[in-house]
Amino acid sequence: MSHESHDHHGIHDRGAHGHGHGGHGSVVHGARADAAVGYTHASEAAIPEPGCAVVRVDLEPRETDWEFMPGHSTRAWGFNGQVPGPTIEAHVGDVLEVHLKNSLPEPTTIHWHGLQIPAAMDGTDMVQHPIMPGETFTYRFKLPDAGTFWYHPHMNETVQLERGLYGAIVVRGPDEPELDAERVLVIDDVALDRQGEIKPPGWWFEQHDGRQGSTRLINGRQEPELTIAAGQVERWRIVNASSARYVRLSIGEKPFTLIGTDGGLIDAPVTMSDVLLAPADRVELAVGPFAEGEVLSLDALRYDRKTIARARTEHFATLRVGPAAPSRARIPARLRDIEPLATKTSPPNREVHLGAKMSVRHFVDFTVNDEQHHRDKPVKVGELQVWDVFNDTMMDHPFHLHGFFFQVVEVNGEEPAFRSWEDTLNLPPKSRARIAWMPDDRPGEWMYHCHILEHHAGGMMGHFEVVR
Ligand code: C2O
Ligand code: CU
Ligand code: CU
Repeated sequence: MSHESHDHHGIHDRGAHGHGHGGHGSVVHGARADAAVGYTHASEAAIPEPGCAVVRVDLEPRETDWEFMPGHSTRAWGFNGQVPGPTIEAHVGDVLEVHLKNSLPEPTTIHWHGLQIPAAMDGTDMVQHPIMPGETFTYRFKLPDAGTFWYHPHMNETVQLERGLYGAIVVRGPDEPELDAERVLVIDDVALDRQGEIKPPGWWFEQHDGRQGSTRLINGRQEPELTIAAGQVERWRIVNASSARYVRLSIGEKPFTLIGTDGGLIDAPVTMSDVLLAPADRVELAVGPFAEGEVLSLDALRYDRKTIARARTEHFATLRVGPAAPSRARIPARLRDIEPLATKTSPPNREVHLGAKMSVRHFVDFTVNDEQHHRDKPVKVGELQVWDVFNDTMMDHPFHLHGFFFQVVEVNGEEPAFRSWEDTLNLPPKSRARIAWMPDDRPGEWMYHCHILEHHAGGMMGHFEVVR
């Protein structure tokens, strides 16, 4: 494991050799010398829209004794001692002000996954210095979009997220569909040893597959029991916070309705009976109605992402249907208008190749355009981006772009079944996806990477500047 530190007084090497490190450990990027100026500016510019509020939240990542299963506690890390951390709820136009106190034994930062906020608030080591143990830091930004998002550290992710540092963010808009109830389900898994403690990062096959633990969690509890009232239709906001697990979710094999994805509501509801959540993905579902007494199994159906470990169907929770309650749920036939940014014939202006190569030291190194921690070309504010993202490897990778929603134009020549805004897109082996996104006026340092945390740490990422 190599730990390379960069010159903190300038942006790290933009030359041909990128970071020049070769480790699977966390890579320390350098924050720019003008990072503090950008931060102060962004913080002062965050003013709530008329009629909106400043939502203040205190978050303290710290060690905690957490019961993943009743009666057995594990040394975990949680925001405010909870796994997941508290769900942050706000409205579009509100300002979120988060006071972070780092009570971990190591440095951290928080990334606001999916939020379209200024670069200075993105929480990566490209835009801020690590928050050292005992230090505090305030994130402050306006919430521009409705949807289900999440927060997690952007430092030593394979350890910090695995131990329980993640939480959901719910941002509500003015025209939300009216359902009977709402719940947030954060999916994760942990790998526990025989004493019931979280295993330290593993060896080569975990570097390859990503960590997939056999203790399967919903909202920090192993295979919990949930209940729903008969006759009601609920809105489920689901986040996959796993390091590497793909969840092809089934609710007792019954149909449900997809109403939203990463960037909020899709254009029109789609009925299906299973939905794939790659790591970092979110979906919003309308679930129900069911009949009293039904018992449904929430499972991750077998999905072969071409790992060394065999894929199989696994149980996550049990849903029991209780006594009936009246329903006022109605799902409109159209949820919102999403104007396409590009068509199948729009010429791409960039290629991103997700790759892997054999490594004597690490078995496999993960790359973008053939280098680990690729330094990509700048992007100009206002210039439409049409990117062809290639998965050149023999396994799946969830591609995540920081800070900007994109549209999926096509995957292997095929247009998606619905229109949506995304920040994470799964790429099957040997596939190509064309995505389109518009860089609005938020200059600064941004990144994209595979959200299998071990692959990200192993170098499957690129960073680039958005310039005016
Ligand atoms: Cu959840 Cu860099 O990402
Ligand atoms: Cu990098
Ligand atoms: Cu990957």
